[in-house]
Amino acid sequence: MSEFKQFTTLEQWRDAPEEFKEACRKIVISHAINELYGSRVYDEPAIAMAPNPYAKWQVCRVVMEEYGHHYRFFELGREMGIKEPLMLPDQTEKQPLNIMNYEMKTWEEFCVIKMLGDLAEIILVEDLVQCSFHPLRNLARMTMPEEHFHAEFGENFTTDICNTDEGKELIQNHINNIFPIIPHMFGKSRSKNNQIYRKWGIKKCTNEEMRADYLKRAGSVVAKLGLTLPIIDVNAF
Ligand SMILES: [Fe+2]
Ligand SMILES: [Fe+2]
Repeated sequence: MSEFKQFTTLEQWRDAPEEFKEACRKIVISHAINELYGSRVYDEPAIAMAPNPYAKWQVCRVVMEEYGHHYRFFELGREMGIKEPLMLPDQTEKQPLNIMNYEMKTWEEFCVIKMLGDLAEIILVEDLVQCSFHPLRNLARMTMPEEHFHAEFGENFTTDICNTDEGKELIQNHINNIFPIIPHMFGKSRSKNNQIYRKWGIKKCTNEEMRADYLKRAGSVVAKLGLTLPIIDVNAF
């Protein structure tokens, strides 16, 4: 039995305390915005960059799923009474995550973004699979296998590129540039929002714990390729 009160339906959620409701809205809005923004700036353009029909086919699956993630969060948000523009990146003031500011120009960068960026997404979603707001928990459980596919997609194609010395050097350079932006995705340490999420059983980990988990897991992913992560200052968050 969970120590937190569970809200199993939207009807129960509607009668919940405002602090809890607002916390749920924030998470749904953030996912809706970032899934759509990421689909537009990375996944969809990568179809044109993919080097062969097999790669294009696989990217198309990723694109379909990422737009699907946005759509599912957007639909849940609508059912929660969130105004549509608040969940659409070009109609809201809320900025997407800063990883989205990285200007991707090549297929190899896309593979690194999927390998390391979607691993961060997995950790963020994992934290929601026990969420006390069940419609959100169900969404997290539904998207989880797809995020695993995206990270594996990145790992597989990156592994192929690393078969040559030049490829390996290229990937290491992209890791050096892309990796340092990603740990920001977990939010600030000692975050007030995160404290509220944990108080209500919406999330279970602190931002610091998720970031530490990410650094460990990202480290072992790149180690398999015989590569390394650049040193970052974990106290800077
Ligand atoms: Fe996604
Ligand atoms: Fe993804």
